[in-house]
Amino acid sequence: MKRFLIVAACSAATGAIAGHEMDGRDLSKGQTLYAEHCASCHGANLEGQPDWQTPDENGILPAPPHDESGHTWHHDNRLLFEYTQLGGEAALAARGVDGFASGMPGFGDILIDDDIWDILAYIKSTWPERVQEIQAGRNPPHD
Ligand code: HEC
Repeated sequence: MKRFLIVAACSAATGAIAGHEMDGRDLSKGQTLYAEHCASCHGANLEGQPDWQTPDENGILPAPPHDESGHTWHHDNRLLFEYTQLGGEAALAARGVDGFASGMPGFGDILIDDDIWDILAYIKSTWPERVQEIQAGRNPPHD
C-alpha cells in the first residue's frame, strides 16, 4: 500500500524539466560519493537491504535496491533528486502525501546539487540500456 502511494504520488509530480540532468555527469565521483553516503543502507552493490519490501515493526520500509531489481528506475529525475535532497517524508509531503514514515534521510545539508546528480547518474549508469531508456522516458518532455 505504501509503495503504491509512492508510485501514485510520483505521477502527480509537477514542474517542467528537460530530463537531461544526468547527462555528462562525473560517474566516478558519483560512485565514490555513493560508497560514502548511500552504500551503508542501499548496499555496496546497490542490492538494498534484506526483505526490503517488508516494513519493520514501526511500519518503516528497509532501503530498496538501486539496481534494476528495485523501483528506483520507475521514478523520474526530479523525484529521485528530491528524495535524496529532502528525504522521503518531505519529498512525498511536497507531493501531497503527508505523514509517510520514511527511513530515507535528506542529504541537502551534506551534498550540493551536483553531487546528488553525480550519484544518481552513477546509479543510472549501472542499469541495462533498456532500463535507462524507460527511466528517461518518465521525465517530462522539453519545454
Ligand atoms: C539510513 C539509511 C539510508 C541511507 C544512508 C540512504 N538511504 Fe535512500 N532510502 C532509504 C530507505 C529506507 C528508503 C525507502 C524509503 C521510503 O520507503 O520512503 C530509501 C529510498 C531512497 C530513494 C527512493 C526510492 C527508490 O525508488 O529507490 C532514493 C532515490 C534514495 N533512497 C537515494 C539515496 C541516495 C542517493 C543515498 C546516498 C546519498 C541514500 N539514498 C542514502 C534509506 C537510506
